[in-house]
Amino acid sequence: MTEIIAILNQKGGCGKTTTAVNLAAALALLDRKVLVIDMDPQGNATTGLGIEKNEQNVTVYSILTGQNSLQEAIVKTEISSLDLVPSNISLSGAEIELSKTIGPHSILKESMDGVESSYDYIFIDVPPSLGLLTLNSIVASDSVIIPIQAEFYALEGMADLIRAMDLVETRLNSPSPIKGILLTLYDSRTRLGRDVYDNVKQYFGETENIFKTTIPRNVKLAEAPSHGKPCIVYDDECSGTLAYLKLADEIIKLEGVEDNK
Ligand SMILES: Nc1ncnc2c1ncn2[C@@H]1O[C@H](COP(=O)(O)OP(=O)(O)O)[C@@H](O)[C@H]1O
Ligand SMILES: [Mg+2]
Repeated sequence: MTEIIAILNQKGGCGKTTTAVNLAAALALLDRKVLVIDMDPQGNATTGLGIEKNEQNVTVYSILTGQNSLQEAIVKTEISSLDLVPSNISLSGAEIELSKTIGPHSILKESMDGVESSYDYIFIDVPPSLGLLTLNSIVASDSVIIPIQAEFYALEGMADLIRAMDLVETRLNSPSPIKGILLTLYDSRTRLGRDVYDNVKQYFGETENIFKTTIPRNVKLAEAPSHGKPCIVYDDECSGTLAYLKLADEIIKLEGVEDNK
């Protein structure tokens, strides 16, 4: 069964794109068929997967404005079972155009008809805002992963994010439960790291899954995108690669469990 997962947090720089690219690559190398949809006009997931964003004519923008089907926008990446729907700066105009259409929240979801069955996982890399691109991503997804950067203001804005998800569930009748909270840029040896972990546990721990895997700060994860490669291709032994492989493993272990629910 296909699982569509949005990587969500309106805070910039908390590791959404790094997670979308590297978790997708890890699952692809573990024999899953994976698609990444780049919903951010910055196109960082596109670049990070080695695709020249400014050379793409068929992008998320052309899907959302009805010019192309999602199928037509799919491009292959260096990893054979990992595909991408690219984006670039053209997408920044989409929110205004979407707001003029009927049912502006469901356009991405509708575009996925017929494509989703070709993949085991579809990851949506969401922009750092709570606008229509993000709402489309939540509506289209079965569940969300929320990366949280281990820093002092980690949970600031979280109430707004939860409210947006609740709104999608109640008003648009499209629930997208939290698959897991992921601690990123995390160092368990520091006081700050441990404090943030405790706060996140207090905030979510009773009701939501916090992934056992945490993602350490690792310079290779930051370098890999400038080579247009997922970290696992750039350096298959660094701590960042190993963490995302471990996370992929944790997600694969949930496959059977969630199907039996
Ligand atoms: N675990 C990590 N270790 C080191 N650098 C990271 C890590 N995660 C993200 N980064 C870097 O931090 C910056 C922001 O990460 P990014 O994934 O683009 O965040 P977002 O998509 O949430 O804005 C990028 O330069 C990225 O390379
Ligand atoms: Mg990003």
